[in-house]
Amino acid sequence: MRIGILTSGGDSPGLNAVIRGIVRKGIRSHGSSFVGIRDGWRGLLEDDVFEMSMLDVRGLSGRGGTILGTSRTHPYEDGGPARMREVMAAHDIDAIVAIGGEGTLSGASRLVEEEGLNIVGVPKTIDNDLDNTDYTFGFDTAQSIATEAIDRLRTTAESHHRCMVIEVMGRNVGWIALHSGMAGGAHAILMPEFPVSMDQIGQWVTSARDRGRAPIVVVAEGFVPEGLDEQIADRGLDSRGRARLGGIANYLAPLIEETTGIETRATILGHLQRGGSPTAYDRVLSTRLGMAAADLAHDEQWGKMASLKGTDIVAVEMASAVDSLKTVPLDRWEEAQVLFG
Ligand code: F6P
Repeated sequence: MRIGILTSGGDSPGLNAVIRGIVRKGIRSHGSSFVGIRDGWRGLLEDDVFEMSMLDVRGLSGRGGTILGTSRTHPYEDGGPARMREVMAAHDIDAIVAIGGEGTLSGASRLVEEEGLNIVGVPKTIDNDLDNTDYTFGFDTAQSIATEAIDRLRTTAESHHRCMVIEVMGRNVGWIALHSGMAGGAHAILMPEFPVSMDQIGQWVTSARDRGRAPIVVVAEGFVPEGLDEQIADRGLDSRGRARLGGIANYLAPLIEETTGIETRATILGHLQRGGSPTAYDRVLSTRLGMAAADLAHDEQWGKMASLKGTDIVAVEMASAVDSLKTVPLDRWEEAQVLFG
């Protein structure tokens, strides 16, 4: 079987390890051959593909980014499925492995259902918000980078008797904030799932300061303080649907300083969380997911994706990953709150 591989949407540490896992398993166990598709669906629509061999994936497990490049091109743009069929036929591509997040997997599952294209998937997002898989690769790397940043910010905060607000990624969910905040000993963790008031945030910060601590507030980028939705919405939205605040941390820091009287600084980690080498955990997870995807393609399990369940990699429907967002559940929020203040 001849298989095209594409990576689509925001990059995530571990993408290269997935690609390596697919190619190695596919060649060694199934005698498959591979075609790399550049920049996600764009490469398939614009015939931007190249022959891939075992040599192309040598030494890739620890390399960040994606050797294939990525884009947010939608599969139904510019000729859509008809054009894809032409390009696949021109290169004798029998099937596609699509590695991507919500948009990629829902597009891919539609292409299987409605167009009969042969596609299997691998779920990808540092946000960890895809459903029907326990963890997504890249999340562990992101939470580790965020935790290290909290540790570093704590020492400078302590020296200056300041409060630090650290903004991490998470447009819709607070998994990175929750895990890095717990690991880094934050005094407040703020997530889109659980809006809290400025008064409550002020109480947590003041209580930490009263115990002689430099207060650490970790906030997910999609958090909006209770009661301030309209004020924030008034600032308009950016191209990705986020409020134009220059980061929620920059909005919160002066409010915290005003409410508590404690000098407060903001740090936005941004794309640092997505760059560089994956952790060992993410390398192993990515490699296993890639190998499982090669098996799924060989077994013609179209519409399925490789998914982590406990310690096993299993096959589930691609569509089931995007039915609903995997948000932080209430019990995890209540558990975390015991540590606040
Ligand atoms: O979905 C992954 C993610 O990293 C989000 O956490 C973040 O909001 C977004 O991508 C950033 O996207 P971009 O790289 O397009 O700015």
